[in-house]
Amino acid sequence: MIKKYTFGNPLKTGAVVLEISPSEGSPAGFEINAKEKELKTGLSKDAYVYGLGETIRGINKRGWIYRSNNADEPHHEEGKNSLYASHNFFILDDGKNCRGYFVDHPGFVEFDIGYSDKDLFTIRFEDFDADFYEIEGNEPKEIVRAFRELIGKSYMPPIWAFGYGQSRWGYKTADDIREVNNRYKELGIPLDMIYMDIDYMQDFKDFTVNPKRFPDFENFVKEMKDDGIRLIPIIDAGVKIEKGYDIYEEGVAQNYFCKKEDGTNLVAAVWPGKVHFPDFLNTKAREWFGDKYKTLTDVGIEGFWNDMNEPAIFYTEDHLKEVFEGIHEMENKELDIWGFFQFRGLIEGIANNPEDYRRFFHDFDGVKVRHDKVHNLYGFYMTRAAGEAFPRIAPDKKILMFSRASYIGMHRYGGVWTGDNMSWWSHLLLNIKQMPSLNMAGFIYSGADTGGFGCDCTEDLMMRWIEFSMFTPLFRNHAALGTREQELYQFKDSESFRNLVELRYALIPYIYREFTKAVENNSMYFRPLFFDYRNDDRCREIEDQLLVGDSIMIAPVYEQNKTGRYVYLPEDMKMLRMRSYNDYDEEVVTAGDHYIKAELNEVLVFIRPGQKLPLTKPARHVDDLNLDELTFIS
Ligand code: GLC
Repeated sequence: MIKKYTFGNPLKTGAVVLEISPSEGSPAGFEINAKEKELKTGLSKDAYVYGLGETIRGINKRGWIYRSNNADEPHHEEGKNSLYASHNFFILDDGKNCRGYFVDHPGFVEFDIGYSDKDLFTIRFEDFDADFYEIEGNEPKEIVRAFRELIGKSYMPPIWAFGYGQSRWGYKTADDIREVNNRYKELGIPLDMIYMDIDYMQDFKDFTVNPKRFPDFENFVKEMKDDGIRLIPIIDAGVKIEKGYDIYEEGVAQNYFCKKEDGTNLVAAVWPGKVHFPDFLNTKAREWFGDKYKTLTDVGIEGFWNDMNEPAIFYTEDHLKEVFEGIHEMENKELDIWGFFQFRGLIEGIANNPEDYRRFFHDFDGVKVRHDKVHNLYGFYMTRAAGEAFPRIAPDKKILMFSRASYIGMHRYGGVWTGDNMSWWSHLLLNIKQMPSLNMAGFIYSGADTGGFGCDCTEDLMMRWIEFSMFTPLFRNHAALGTREQELYQFKDSESFRNLVELRYALIPYIYREFTKAVENNSMYFRPLFFDYRNDDRCREIEDQLLVGDSIMIAPVYEQNKTGRYVYLPEDMKMLRMRSYNDYDEEVVTAGDHYIKAELNEVLVFIRPGQKLPLTKPARHVDDLNLDELTFIS
C-alpha cells in the first residue's frame, strides 16, 4: 500500500513510473512543519533506519546526518555527509513494525537521523516542494518490493558485463591496452573488459579518439573483441569549448548547453579545460547527446561509463575571476590568522563551489530552473540520454552502462560504481555495507573500484577485496593516476588471483540467475541478514556479512593480517572454504558464533539449508562459459 503526499509544487523528477493520486492529511508518523520546511518523527530505542543508497557509514543509518547533494567527493570518510548520489528512500524498522518512505525532491535534502537529537529523525528541505511517498508492508523486503514497483524495473546489463574488468587511469595507447590483455592471458586469469579512461580521447573531447594513440580504432576494437575483450570507454559530462569541434558547435547552435541568467552559456572547466555542460534535462538536448554515443557504438563499442556528472566543476570562469581579484587584494598585505583562513578558503573553494551551482539554468522542457534546484538529477539525466538512445543507435545490442552520479530513476537506465574510494581496508568494509542499500534503491548492477582507486594497494588488500568483489555484479579493478599499479599480474601470488577470478566465473550462473531474479521480482540481490531472519535479534547488528541471492551468505575478511574472523550463523549451514572452484573444504557449521579460519587466498561461502550452489567450469571469457553444464554443492 503506497500513499503519496504532495508538499508545495514539486517538479516531476522521473523517479517513479506509477501514477498515485495524492492523499490528504499527514503521512503516518511524520509531523509536517511547512514553515520550517521540515518533517519530523521520533526514533524509538529499537528503531533502525535502512536505506539512503550510496552513502558513507553503516547499513543502519541511525546516528548521523546525511545530505542529498550529489558531490564529486573522493574522500569517503565518516565525517562526510554526501557522496555522488541522492537516493532518498529509507525504511524505519523497530523489528516488529516497519514503513518505507521516499522523498522525491531533486534538490538539497537533509536527513538528520538522530544527529541533532538522538531520539529524533528530521528531514529538512531548502525548498519545500516534494512528493513524499509512504509505503506500508509487513517486513523490509515487502516494502522494498512495493517501492521498486513504484520506480520501475532495474537496468539489466549484458551477461558478459558479469565478467572481470581491468581499468586504470593512465592507459594511454592501444599498446598499453594490448599489454594488459597479454599479461592476463599469459597468466590465464579470466578477463572480459578493459576500460578506457580519459586518455583515449583527443584533448579530453567526448566522442573523439586520439588517432595517434589509437590508429585505426575500429580495427583495434575488433582485434580486442576477437580476443574476447570488450573495450569500455569513459564519457564525461563537460563538452570542450573548441572552435570546429562538432559537438561544441552543434550544442551552441542549437542552444543545448546550460545557460547563465544573462542567456550566455556557462563556462566551467573540467579535464579538457573550458567546457559547456549539456542541458540533459531538456528532452531535445538529451536526444542529441544520446545519439552521439553512436560514434562509438558504430565502431563496435558495447559499453560505457558516464563520469563527472554531478557535475564536477574544477572552476567556473566567473568564480575564478572573483578568486583572482580576492588574491590580488591580499597580495601585499600581511595575513593574520583570519586573513590566512580567508586566503586558504578562496583557494580551497575553487572546485565544486556551491555558488557555481547557482550560476546556471536548465530549460527543463519549457520551464527555466536554476541548477541547484534540480542538481541531483544531472547524472541521472545524462545516463538517461544514453539509455534512451541505445535502442535507437544500436538496436541489436545490449549495451553496458553505469554512472558515477545518480538519483533514483536512473536505476532503469544503468548501474553505478561507487566512485573514487581508496586502497584502504576500511573502504573494503564500506563497500560491503553500501551494497544492500544500493540494492534497496534499485541499483543492482553496482560495485566499487576493487583494490581501491586512490592510494597504493597492497597484495593482501587486493586479494581480500577480490574475495568480496567476486560477488558484486560489477566486478572491476580500477586505480588512479600516480598510484601503485594494481593489475593482478603486478602481484606475486598470481596463482591465487587466477583461482579466485576463476571462482567468480564458476559462480556466474548463480550470480546471473540471482541478479535476474532481483531485477524481475523487484527484490534485493544483496541483503542484510535481518531482512531474512526477522526473528533473530542478533542479526540486526550484523553489517559485515551479507546474504547474496537466495542460496548463500558471505562473510568476507576485511582486516589486514587476519587469517580468519568471527561469523554469526542464524541457522546451521554448509560452509565452503574455497580456494578455487574445484578446491574447497566443506563442513556443516551449527547456528551461533564461530571463529572461522580463512587464509589469505580462501573465501568463505555459507549455503543456506535446503539450497544448492551451482558452479560451472570457468573460462577466460563469459561468452565461453557453459551455462547449462552445472555441478551443484548442497
Ligand atoms: C574521476 C573518476 C575516476 C577516473 C578519473 C579520470 O575521478 O571517478 O574513476 O579514473 O575521474 O577520468
